[in-house]
Amino acid sequence: MNYEVLKNLSYGMYIIGAKSNKNVGCVVNTVFQITSDPVMIAVSLNKENETTKTILETKKFSVSILNQNTKIDTIGTFGYKTSKECDKYEFVEYEEILDVPVLKDTNGYLICEVVDTKEVGTHIIFICKVVKMDKFSDNEVMTYAYYQNNLKGKSPKNAPTYIKEETKKSVWKCKICGYEVEMDELPSDYRCPICGRPATDFERIEK
Ligand SMILES: Cc1cc2nc3c(=O)[nH]c(=O)nc-3n(C[C@H](O)[C@H](O)[C@H](O)COP(=O)(O)O)c2cc1C
Repeated sequence: MNYEVLKNLSYGMYIIGAKSNKNVGCVVNTVFQITSDPVMIAVSLNKENETTKTILETKKFSVSILNQNTKIDTIGTFGYKTSKECDKYEFVEYEEILDVPVLKDTNGYLICEVVDTKEVGTHIIFICKVVKMDKFSDNEVMTYAYYQNNLKGKSPKNAPTYIKEETKKSVWKCKICGYEVEMDELPSDYRCPICGRPATDFERIEK
């Protein structure tokens, strides 16, 4: 099994938003359109995510479509922290549309109602009808490749595209928030996906 070939699959970058007693949300790269009439989409969500638990309860969520202006610390907050422990919406501008949070400064949104689910091991595939959608801007969308190649971003364990690394490279640790990244050399323009600090705030550590 050559896991490297999986890197040739293409994806976009999105933030899923949902609400029960509080607003929750997470980064995903697994949204895709299934049909056009009616507009149906699917998304794969990890069972451990607080966002998944909320959607199983409310059957409703938003998809905010990220563009290249999306701040790396927004991806850090929504992709590496859990809504169980913090209010992620404290850090971003958003509005509520049909009672679910939608991020401003994105290319637009879809509001989705769950019509079916399929459990697949660690994840649940949600099959959904889009009940409202609109466009905010025509900026260049953020693809998963852009996130990986330009922002040097990785995927955490809960992401479907997570690849377990067999051979350890050098580990760099952010001295400010403790975030760790495995890389031979840290590019000089690297920024911490959690707290946004520059490469100069990282130190190489032994693992
Ligand atoms: C680039 C990227 C892609 C991700 N894709 C997915 C995904 O498709 N499905 C998923 O369940 N989690 C995905 N994640 C992980 C969740 O965003 C992450 O586990 C988050 O902390 C869950 O937050 P929550 O507990 O508040 O729901 C991704 C994270 C990143 C950074």
